[in-house]
Amino acid sequence: MKITFRLIVSLLFTTAVVVASFCYLQVHAEEKRLNEELSLRAAVLAKSFEGAIESYLTYTEQPERLKKYIEKFQGHKRLIGLIVDMKDGQRITLPPELAQGDLFRKESEKAMAENGAVESNSKWKQRKVNYYVIPLAKEGETVGALGLIHDRTFIVKQITDFWKNSAISFSILALILSITTLLIIRWSVTGPIARIAELIRRATVGEMPAQPKSLEEKGEIEKLFFAVSHMASSLKAVKLDLVEQSRLVNAQGTVWTKERLKDYLLTKLQGKQLYVVANREPYIHRKKGSAIECIMPASGVVTALDPVMRATGGMWIAHGAGDADRETVDKKDQLRVPPWKPSYTLKRVWLNEEEEKGYYYGFSNEGLWPLCHISHVRPVFRIDDWKQYERVNQKFAGALLDELDDSPSMILIQDYHFALLPKLIKDMRPDVKVAIFWHIPWPNPEAFGICPWQGDILEGMLGSDLIGFHTQYHCNNFLDTVDRVLESRIDWTTFGVIRGGKTSYVRPFPISVDCSSDGQMTVEAQTDELAKVKKNFGLEGKIIGVGVDRIDYTKGLLERFRAIERVLEKYPQYQGKFVFIELGAPSRTLIPGYQSHMKEVDELVQKINARFQNGNYKPIVFLKEHHGQSEIRNFYRLANFCLVSSLHDGMNLVAKEFVAARQDENGVLILSRFAGASHEFISALQINPYDIEGTAEAIHQALTMLPEERQERMRKLRSIVQEYNVYRWAADLITELVKSF
Ligand code: G6P
Repeated sequence: MKITFRLIVSLLFTTAVVVASFCYLQVHAEEKRLNEELSLRAAVLAKSFEGAIESYLTYTEQPERLKKYIEKFQGHKRLIGLIVDMKDGQRITLPPELAQGDLFRKESEKAMAENGAVESNSKWKQRKVNYYVIPLAKEGETVGALGLIHDRTFIVKQITDFWKNSAISFSILALILSITTLLIIRWSVTGPIARIAELIRRATVGEMPAQPKSLEEKGEIEKLFFAVSHMASSLKAVKLDLVEQSRLVNAQGTVWTKERLKDYLLTKLQGKQLYVVANREPYIHRKKGSAIECIMPASGVVTALDPVMRATGGMWIAHGAGDADRETVDKKDQLRVPPWKPSYTLKRVWLNEEEEKGYYYGFSNEGLWPLCHISHVRPVFRIDDWKQYERVNQKFAGALLDELDDSPSMILIQDYHFALLPKLIKDMRPDVKVAIFWHIPWPNPEAFGICPWQGDILEGMLGSDLIGFHTQYHCNNFLDTVDRVLESRIDWTTFGVIRGGKTSYVRPFPISVDCSSDGQMTVEAQTDELAKVKKNFGLEGKIIGVGVDRIDYTKGLLERFRAIERVLEKYPQYQGKFVFIELGAPSRTLIPGYQSHMKEVDELVQKINARFQNGNYKPIVFLKEHHGQSEIRNFYRLANFCLVSSLHDGMNLVAKEFVAARQDENGVLILSRFAGASHEFISALQINPYDIEGTAEAIHQALTMLPEERQERMRKLRSIVQEYNVYRWAADLITELVKSF
């Protein structure tokens, strides 16, 4: 529409200029012609009067006679006055009022002096007039002058009429031009463009474009249309080819496995050491009576990275948080893990109570965690916490630098606990390559701006060569924040931050799980084990839902249980038959916000259970303790559905673990659309956890879904987890980091 409007306006403007120029020339010529006609007429008339008047000049002493004579000329067409000026100053006029003043006196005197005709245009009585004056002679001597006054207003009127008519003709022309332009544009420009757009849209969704007709009789736009058709067909062919190629590649077994990652890194790293720094250690030793047990903590970082480290070897540096950790390390505070199949080294860093309180509970988990999750819990920033955060980052930098030899190494730093670490390491060892992976969301610059030390955090992170997030959205938020806070140049084409001659690249790497684990168990063994679990928990014959979480306010536990209550209320047929098992690992329990959240969740569960309890039956089984991986997998396999209701989550690996565990291609995943995993898992039943009614409906839908649909959805989810597994994640990240060597 804008184009049409512009085209019409410019056309009309040009036409107006051309029409006005032509009119002006025409008017000018017409005016000249009419003036000439009038002068001619005045000259002829003056000449015809001249002889007669001259004969009366003898009686100049009797002006009455001359007056009477000239009155006879009255009534000549457009002649509106007549003046006879004598040399002695006498003046005889018609009409008589012309005698007053000196109107046209100069012209008369000039005619007498030059003895020739003089003409001028002027105004008299508000009218435009022409004055034509000739000399009068008596006996060969000039004695006076005869002037004729003609009305010129008819010329002015004719010119005005001409302009009016031209304006009307121009308006009609403008209207015709506008309509014609509009139609031409519609037929020849916007129409074909709309067709091309439609063609591109259809090609994008995989529909075949219409068959092009002969090109010969077509215009340029039509040719473009056909060129696009052709391109769309080629693109479709390429796409099909790629799909086929990738299918073939996968069929040939090139899906990432731990063996493949191992081989790949051997060639990529070429002897370089791999170091992981994460706050949470993958194996915690704790006292159980007089014995020591080793557990894997509930942590997305551990779930993802332990299989990678088992495949690649290297060193994991973490806080030794277990009460039996010191008893299980060597003199260098190290041990080989996993204890049952040592594959890599765990180095423990010790923190005193003050450090742990300020750095871990305080700045990391009361400050950065709620800041980045935006789940309606106010972040708290205390200067003492920040100081401990700085100190602990320095402590970890020291622990890592102690381990590095002279050869170039690769350091993979994990999460929000170590924002300052990349710069601390790079300042000491510019030759090593550093990546930091941020496992939680990154909010927009306004939200992040709450943090009083935002500049230090960004500077610390930008010590890295590579900064990873789960989604492009979080990368963009990070780049926007840097742009807002620091003096730097953002290259939006390469997603790089350039500062002081150094570039840090920012990339999305959606993390995942090891989909192949636990493949060793036979089907029979699995069935036996599941039967035992069912018996132990009184789940025989029950419909089962499962939730697996750290007990954290970001996980939407209250919303989840309210939705379960609503299902039981709305669909009473489930009462007595449906059980939801919540495997909740207590987390960060020294933080008051977590304590009050735990209390609130407990009370809600009790209230719901009291409402629907019947004999031994309780709809919610809330198991508040640490659970081992194989125990969790049993519940995944028993469940009719798994419910992930995070209010905000970087990725959420529970969703991926559930899918990985369902080798039977059964079970439904209900997934919050605010979890990063929802970008990949479009075949899950996606929910808004704040919408209790909607979540309740999703649960009902999961429980009534036809087996074929269930299987189809689960197959799609599994193919994603199999293809985009954690080995691929690690390979992608390391490949990107190796590029900077
Ligand atoms: C999230 C964080 C991890 C953390 C985990 C468990 O997944 O991204 O870095 O390890 O929570 O929290 P915790 O405080 O127990 O380590």
